[in-house]
Amino acid sequence: MHSGVGNIWYIYATVFHVLLLGSIFVTYFRSPVIQGLKPQQPLPREAPAKRLVLIVADGLRAQSFFYENLSNVPNLRQLIKEQQGLLGISHTRVPTESRPGHIALIAGFYEDPSAVTRGWKENPIEFDTIFQHARRTYAWGSHDILRIFNKSSRRDVEGRLTFDAYNHELDFWGKVKSYELDKWVFSRVEDFLKRKRKILQKVDKVYFFLHLLGLDTAGHIHKPQTALFLENLFITEAGIYKIYRLFEQIFEDQKTAYILTSDHGMTDSGSHGAAQPHETETPFYMWGAGINSKSYSTTKYIKLDSNTAMPLYEIEQAQMTPLMSALLGLPPPVNNLGILPRYFLNVSDEYIARAAECNAYQLLEQYKHLLKKHKSGVLSFLLPEYEALSWPSINAIKSYLKQAHFVEDYQTVTNISYNLMEMTLEGIGYYQSYYSMPLLLATTVAMLSWTKYLFNLLNLKKMDSLESVEFKAIVAFCILQKLSWQVSLYLLLPIPVMSLALRDETQGLTPLTFGQIKINITWICAACCFTPKQSQNNKVEVLY
Ligand SMILES: *[C@@H]1O[C@H](CO)[C@@H](O)[C@H](O)[C@H]1NC(C)=O
Ligand SMILES: *[C@@H]1O[C@H](CO)[C@@H](O)[C@H](O)[C@H]1NC(C)=O
Ligand SMILES: *[C@@H]1O[C@H](CO)[C@@H](O)[C@H](O)[C@H]1NC(C)=O
Ligand SMILES: *[C@@H]1O[C@H](CO)[C@@H](O)[C@H](O)[C@H]1NC(C)=O
Ligand SMILES: *[C@@H]1O[C@H](CO)[C@@H](O)[C@H](O)[C@H]1NC(C)=O
Ligand SMILES: [Zn+2]
Ligand SMILES: [Zn+2]
Repeated sequence: MHSGVGNIWYIYATVFHVLLLGSIFVTYFRSPVIQGLKPQQPLPREAPAKRLVLIVADGLRAQSFFYENLSNVPNLRQLIKEQQGLLGISHTRVPTESRPGHIALIAGFYEDPSAVTRGWKENPIEFDTIFQHARRTYAWGSHDILRIFNKSSRRDVEGRLTFDAYNHELDFWGKVKSYELDKWVFSRVEDFLKRKRKILQKVDKVYFFLHLLGLDTAGHIHKPQTALFLENLFITEAGIYKIYRLFEQIFEDQKTAYILTSDHGMTDSGSHGAAQPHETETPFYMWGAGINSKSYSTTKYIKLDSNTAMPLYEIEQAQMTPLMSALLGLPPPVNNLGILPRYFLNVSDEYIARAAECNAYQLLEQYKHLLKKHKSGVLSFLLPEYEALSWPSINAIKSYLKQAHFVEDYQTVTNISYNLMEMTLEGIGYYQSYYSMPLLLATTVAMLSWTKYLFNLLNLKKMDSLESVEFKAIVAFCILQKLSWQVSLYLLLPIPVMSLALRDETQGLTPLTFGQIKINITWICAACCFTPKQSQNNKVEVLY
């Protein structure tokens, strides 16, 4: 028997270490994107804006924008004085990269950790975006960004998406004069608007998306705060001002909303990806149709000159998604996790109520999907659940909302909707991390058992094949609860490893006794009953 131990040892070790590595992915890197969700209906009221211009200045950090009373962006400062609107900081999450930043803005959820398997370069799973709900979307910019939203558009019915991207040759040329990238976008937009003026004036629910890569390129090559970066910033902000004038000239109906922001910031040394404030704090300026000129009361102000100051608001990056949807009267994308910043809208109480309710139902749809999946397990009646949103309480809230609608008490509709949204987000976190703690425990036990096994090997104890009753018990649990094979695998992992470790001690083929099984089932149950808590890393207090 000893002769065989040597070879088996290698196989066990290889398999175990590969599995251990995989456990990280199963426990932490799981996609938040739920598939097969039903979208909500468009809002049944006239939207405050007919078109929305989203301008993303790639890699522009808040510090560069707000520096010295906005002296880096004189044209925009002038615009802010004329147009008012809202100014503030949008908080991004890590990794502060272009793809996750744009997805947070346009699809409303943060990084899909499963994208690590693709080097953060693309999303393995399809998702919904604001563009899919619009009548038309016109976008200009770098191919790398635009293709994210082309790929995810399941069916580009009637050619609703029109993308105009420059190729990598221009990318390369842009490294000398990075602002040429932005000038390219501005001139294409100008051309397009002038050419299609007549058609464009007739359609509503349209997005114009301008992706300006110049500042990101300049930041990487020259570093922010250098003269060359500031030159690029000056050209870009002057271009934005000009584009705004052009839009107003072509669309004279005062029904255009504008949002200027960026996908992520940049450090002084010209990098991004991590969680420094320079990377996670991006500026936003929004103005035009449907945008308030005053939001909630804040104590932070930014001076424009000696006698003008503007309040500085804060927002989570993903909140842009429901905001843009609401401005055009559209439902938020189905995978959105952002909450509508209601004080940013200048609309009637009824409109706010309907937009908030739509947002709440859109979030609830994701929660219901998770709850249904959990409840489809045969043993779920034994397991803890998220009490605040059980089926009966969901139905109660729904009928409460209906009643409030019936008597046109829109304040109450809004209040209930916001409560529902907060509970829903918590509930989504609860079910998405339901098996995290048991998985963590199982991996730890497997690791400890492995160490014990190695220890036994060193002492040249006798080895035997494994066979266990707990194994069957956990298999039964996984099947009855309809867990995915990955989760099942890692819940089961400690058993073979433990029996490897323990069999040596008992020195024989005696099957496990009933007492031992009970103890082991106890820890599994204990692990499962460890109510998982959502780890919300909201550092900033954002008012909705
Ligand atoms: C999207 O990509 C496909 C090919 O992947 C291409 O044929 C199509 O024209 C693209 N659509 C837009 C709007 O760019
Ligand atoms: C809201 O919009 C109306 C016009 O639609 C405007 O008269 C009013 O000043 C705006 N209010 C704020 C606070 O922006
Ligand atoms: C910016 O504001 C500060 C006060 O906050 C003032 O001292 C300074 O002169 C202003 N600079 C410009 C360029 O307006
Ligand atoms: C809505 O909530 C706010 C604060 O949360 C409260 O002041 C207000 O009275 C509520 N309105 C209604 C109609 O419930
Ligand atoms: C699990 O089972 C083994 C025997 O297989 C037993 O020695 C051990 O005490 C049990 N409990 C725990 C918590 O490992
Ligand atoms: Zn970027
Ligand atoms: Zn970059």
